[in-house]
Amino acid sequence: MPQYDESGRLLRVGRDLKHIAFIMDGNGRWAERRGLSREKGHTEGMKAFEKAVKYCGELGLEVMTVYAFSTENWKRPEREVRKIMALLEKYLDKLLEKASEYEVRVRFIGERKSLSDRLQQKIVMAEDATSKYGRILNIALNYGGRAEITAAVNKLISAGRRTVSEDDISGALYTSGIPDPDLIVRTAGEQRLSNFLLWQSAYSEFYFTDTLWPDIDEAEIQRAVENYYKRTRRFGAVR
Ligand code: FPP
Repeated sequence: MPQYDESGRLLRVGRDLKHIAFIMDGNGRWAERRGLSREKGHTEGMKAFEKAVKYCGELGLEVMTVYAFSTENWKRPEREVRKIMALLEKYLDKLLEKASEYEVRVRFIGERKSLSDRLQQKIVMAEDATSKYGRILNIALNYGGRAEITAAVNKLISAGRRTVSEDDISGALYTSGIPDPDLIVRTAGEQRLSNFLLWQSAYSEFYFTDTLWPDIDEAEIQRAVENYYKRTRRFGAVR
């Protein structure tokens, strides 16, 4: 069960909550409401992301996954795409510098070949430098759930398989060996999955909030966790 301090602040999640995935939506709206550029919204989104990573670590979560950039996000203005990639590079630099302080194993899920060579190199360096840590941070970048499942099946076919099991597919996904998300949080009011973790979310609980991603804070994450603990997960069985 989750643990709280005397003021009611959530300190630790229980062992039955291992993995939270976030669809970080609303950076653009956050900025537009303030008359700022969308890029500024992503800058603030990055700050919120870093705080969320820290808090999720403190809560004792084994895995956190974030949807940073979908395969469809290339359709955005070039300036905005460049900004998101630049923020990410900066984050990776910081991660490389402070790996022992962050104590998180970063992994990228998604198709890498379309990313710049420099970003691809930094990703490999960050993954290598953090591979010894237990807690996992998956960053979904140029990620699409259908593409992931299709690639997994093609991989199995190339390996000579003519029929595949569910376990085979799970084992061929980017998330092989990682527990499925127990909880998926989407900010900014939209209630859809947008091609995120399609296979892995089969039995996930969902928490939707109108809060825009740059405004997400510990209190909102606590609400999501508390909401999760009110659910009865049956995985298709009866109680
Ligand atoms: C969705 O908001 C957000 C994104 C597509 C990018 C997410 C990026 C960050 C949170 C900052 C960078 C973090 C990492 C890990 C790279 P939106 O732009 O779709 O907002 P809107 O729906 O209000 O327009």
